Amino acid sequence: MNTTSLLKWRYATKQFDPSKIIPSDKLQIIKEAFNLTATSYGLQPIKLLIVRTKEIKEQLKVAAFNQSQLTDASDVLVFCIDTAIDASYVEDYFKLVKEKRSTPDEILKPYQEFLTNHFNTITQDEKLNWATKQAYLAMGNLLTVCAIEQIDACPMEGFSPEKTDEILELKKQNLKSVLLMPIGYRSEDDFMASLQKVRKPLEEMVITK
Ligand SMILES: Cc1cc2nc3c(=O)[nH]c(=O)nc-3n(C[C@H](O)[C@H](O)[C@H](O)COP(=O)(O)O)c2cc1C
Repeated sequence: MNTTSLLKWRYATKQFDPSKIIPSDKLQIIKEAFNLTATSYGLQPIKLLIVRTKEIKEQLKVAAFNQSQLTDASDVLVFCIDTAIDASYVEDYFKLVKEKRSTPDEILKPYQEFLTNHFNTITQDEKLNWATKQAYLAMGNLLTVCAIEQIDACPMEGFSPEKTDEILELKKQNLKSVLLMPIGYRSEDDFMASLQKVRKPLEEMVITK
């Protein structure tokens, strides 16, 4: 399949086949793709939690208004944001840049000062909002990667982040959940798989000048 047919093959899967499990090499591709997602300033204020355990998936299902994808899918991806973005968070990033690229301090210093000042100036809500945008970007990236790998997925906002944070004990790890994405393989019974895509005409969506 070419890129467009793979993207048409993808759909928000409502019914997964619970007997089909994603092999570890495919899961590895998903992990790498998450880490390779572009983020604002390169700061990666996001984490991916992968839930495979049946008991935890059952608890997550309750927090997601009993949507069956949570328990039928092979794995549930939980996109989280970091909640402690401060001077030391920025410092850790620059240590990593130095380690990876041996960039001299005099080049890094002004940029580090700019970012430290920026994150000292904005409010906690603004930081969380900024980090949340990065989580959406990561989910978009993984939706496409899953399509390329012919792994089915359902992007989800329909869940209680507060309950999810409690179940996964995210607060003590300075994390908050923002998105869920069950992944696995579609059930043969999912009638949604064969439905026409509902999309506006391309000419309406893309403006070329
Ligand atoms: C951010 C986001 C949140 C979504 N939340 C849910 C959800 O909670 N439950 C669900 O069944 N589908 C959810 N969807 C799936 C959308 O309804 C679906 O992607 C859209 O109708 C387009 O259909 P398609 O993805 O099958 O092409 C969500 C999609 C996105 C992008």
